[in-house]
Amino acid sequence: MNIIERIRLSIFPGAHKPADEQKGQRKYFRSLLLHFRPRVVPERTLRFSLTWGLGGMAAVLVFLLFGSGLMLKFAYEPFPGRAYDSIMHLQQNIPFGQLIRNIHHWSANGLLIIAFLHFLRVFFTGAFVAPRQFNWIIGLALLAAVIVSNFTGYLLPWDQLAFWAITISSSMLEYIPGVGAWLQKLILGGEELGPAAIANFYAIHTAVLPALLLLIMPFHFWRIRKAKGLVIPRLPDEDTDTLGEKVDTIPHLIVREVAVALLLFAVVLVISMLFNAPLAAKANPGLSPNPTKAPWYFMGIQEMLMHFHPVFSLFIIPLMLVIGLFCIPYINYQSETAGVWFCSNKGRRMALIAVLTSTAATVAGILADEFIIGSILTGPPNIIISGLVPFAIVLAGCIGFYVFMKKKFGATNNEAIQTLFILLVTAFLVLTVVGIWFRGTGMKLVWGI
Ligand code: HEM
Ligand code: HEM
Repeated sequence: MNIIERIRLSIFPGAHKPADEQKGQRKYFRSLLLHFRPRVVPERTLRFSLTWGLGGMAAVLVFLLFGSGLMLKFAYEPFPGRAYDSIMHLQQNIPFGQLIRNIHHWSANGLLIIAFLHFLRVFFTGAFVAPRQFNWIIGLALLAAVIVSNFTGYLLPWDQLAFWAITISSSMLEYIPGVGAWLQKLILGGEELGPAAIANFYAIHTAVLPALLLLIMPFHFWRIRKAKGLVIPRLPDEDTDTLGEKVDTIPHLIVREVAVALLLFAVVLVISMLFNAPLAAKANPGLSPNPTKAPWYFMGIQEMLMHFHPVFSLFIIPLMLVIGLFCIPYINYQSETAGVWFCSNKGRRMALIAVLTSTAATVAGILADEFIIGSILTGPPNIIISGLVPFAIVLAGCIGFYVFMKKKFGATNNEAIQTLFILLVTAFLVLTVVGIWFRGTGMKLVWGI
């Protein structure tokens, strides 16, 4: 037996045995896999139109980020004087350095979008009611970890883009009553963005958050097992105890998961080969770009800041939304709609009306504030006139819409709450789009950039 053969046998004992005995070996491997997965799964939960493969894609992207992030650590130096040059060195002199940075960059941005879409699919298929309530909360923790990972990573290249985006985002913290200034100082490790800030961000980005993700993700998956798998998709008029057939996890589920993972990997690789991660000039604390924008995923908040007093746009409204998200699974719903896309046929019609109303109202509100109200109200923002008054108007609008829709359609709690959720999510998306693409020099409204 040659050396290669001997090494192979030391790894896979039994590889030299007759074919029928090897079958037995494969059985052991399958049973190992089945320690992590159920033996059978309901055939209906395998339908692509239930999950769109989004949860699995999010998990694949997290692993791609771990892999590429670990490689980046070999080249990256977390000091203001060295960080930018280390990235240049990585891109220009290290084989595949640029590609690895691109993979990290595109996976990170892709993960934000995929995790958000997964969050929407879980909401719209009603997969957050018992026994999945707590998994929704774990999901929110995962979403927070992904956002903070992106935010802390954003600073690391130490270019103009990073420096000023993090400066503007961290200055938003100041407006949190009581603890804001203290929190900002804690995160930055001082008064301004410097060596202590980059050291903090680096430690949080490459140690604290990865450890947290590695703890929370298995918890998320374990809760899926405990809920006896995913929610069973059904049509609005199908019985609540519809179960359908069960099929073996291997091969039916595994083959689908591997296919989605490979396809996603191929897409990330192609994008990373075609488009380089942005890198502006080296950070210059004395020269701010115009306009100075936060990272794109915070542009909704920055846009809100243009219309409301900071205490409302940076504290009260985000706090109310976060509390609302945590409460969603614990509201008393009247009917069992888990597994039905958009609750019911009526829910679908209401959803469409909410999207159209919210888009029109948000765009109208932005234009009115920019061209009419803004020119009447001059001077520094005032907590009553530019805070309490617009906030009360928006709140009254949301409550009015909720009550109107509930009455007009004779809707259940499920349908009405879904409508309100869509109203708010759409408004947030419109604000984000306007902030990213329709704000130019001096943060003035422009027609496309
Ligand atoms: C890094 C982020 C995340 C990862 C890696 C992840 C992963 C997964 C996976 C693999 C599944 C099963 C397949 C699927 O439904 O597509 C799943 C299901 C689930 N996820 Fe996530 N998830 C993440 C974020 C979230 C978020 C933000 C929420 C909601 C707030 C959430 C709530 C849930 C719930 C409730 C289920 C069970 C769904 C059902 O039973 O049909 N997850 N997640
Ligand atoms: C959910 C997980 C993660 C996310 C969302 C994430 C996100 C990011 C982002 C957005 C950047 C800036 C890249 C750019 O220049 O555009 C970055 C940089 C970086 N990340 Fe991560 N990352 C994650 C995990 C990790 C892990 C696990 C490590 C290492 C253990 C790591 C190490 C690094 C390093 C060294 C940089 C600086 C290099 C550069 O900016 O190109 N990351 N990360």
